Amino acid sequence: MSHVAPHSALNTKLTRMTGCQYPIIQSAMGWVATGPLCAATANAGAMGFIGSATMDLQQLAEEIAWVKDHTDKPFGVNMRSDAPDANERVQLMIKSGVKFAGFALAPKEKLIKTLKDAGIVCIPSIGAKRHAEKVASWGADALIVQGGEGGGHTGSIATTILLPQIVDAVDIPVIAAGGFFDGRGLVAALAYGAQGVAMGTRFLLTRESPVPDNVKTAYLKAGVGDTVATDQVDGHQHRMIRNSFVDKLLTTPAWKNLPLAVANALKLKSLTGIPFTDMLKQGWSMKKDHGYGWLQVVMAANTPVLLRTTMVEGKTEFGIMPGGQVMGLIDKVESCEELVRNIVTQANGVLEGFARG
Ligand SMILES: Cc1cc2nc3c(=O)[nH]c(=O)nc-3n(C[C@H](O)[C@H](O)[C@H](O)COP(=O)(O)O)c2cc1C
Repeated sequence: MSHVAPHSALNTKLTRMTGCQYPIIQSAMGWVATGPLCAATANAGAMGFIGSATMDLQQLAEEIAWVKDHTDKPFGVNMRSDAPDANERVQLMIKSGVKFAGFALAPKEKLIKTLKDAGIVCIPSIGAKRHAEKVASWGADALIVQGGEGGGHTGSIATTILLPQIVDAVDIPVIAAGGFFDGRGLVAALAYGAQGVAMGTRFLLTRESPVPDNVKTAYLKAGVGDTVATDQVDGHQHRMIRNSFVDKLLTTPAWKNLPLAVANALKLKSLTGIPFTDMLKQGWSMKKDHGYGWLQVVMAANTPVLLRTTMVEGKTEFGIMPGGQVMGLIDKVESCEELVRNIVTQANGVLEGFARG
């Protein structure tokens, strides 16, 4: 399938910085943004990120190798800077020739420096102006700015407010996230001064996304009002579908969820082989960095298992299904190639329409 030629306005700082054909990013998603999704996105002319927050080091090495075997196009790796083996992950990225780095939650200045010294372009995601200014001062090369309607961990300010605020506040390229799914949104983001868009939910609902079909159907069925943003799962505001599991979590005092959280932490250990000492180190780092209490630390250790229950095991009522409000506007699953081509074709049409008047 041939790629559509982009309108000249779609040649932005993002496409020049990354070498991608279109200013579109498939952002990281735990258990979802694996090698096949990332490579399919890259081959469609956009840029994919591997989401490594739910992988151990060995799995990450395998996913990077898989992507390199299936595309010669640029891609990135998104990581947690509070992972106990964060330094090893950075060294793996350097050794494997990964060109772009993203961060789930807050990055660390030292990691950004190490990555940049090795020539890796750093693109953290942020949801508030003060965080944008901080990571820009640490040398971030660009920012993904996610408005509150976005899926997964998210802030509370809507994209239409946050985006212009941050475009005006920093001198580095800004990529808009939270609520994007089509070519109109891409053009609107450029009009706000962004250099492109990053999408999570939209790419979760592609054919190459590894999420089980019944889970994709649950997302397709959800309306724009069927998500909730809560900090009850892991202490950070997190937008997800409001299923019966989440309803129970919201109406139960946090301490009552503790036995479930401990059971899930044990399950994560057996699923991933992550040693307890590493879990404790990550917990300690969360406590220190985010001021968490131990109850919250255990709840946070829960998240990867709650995600895996839906995204891998397909049990829609027993885990969490993070996603943005935009899921209410998405009614079909396309291939990455079709998705990217349709977005660019529509954006081209909008831009040409402006010129015609
Ligand atoms: C299932 C899911 C998992 C996510 N996991 C991560 C992650 O591991 N790291 C990260 O930086 N962002 C993560 N996010 C946020 C997305 O990368 C992206 O910024 C967000 O989905 C954008 O909003 P949208 O869903 O409206 O497109 C996740 C989002 C979803 C829906």
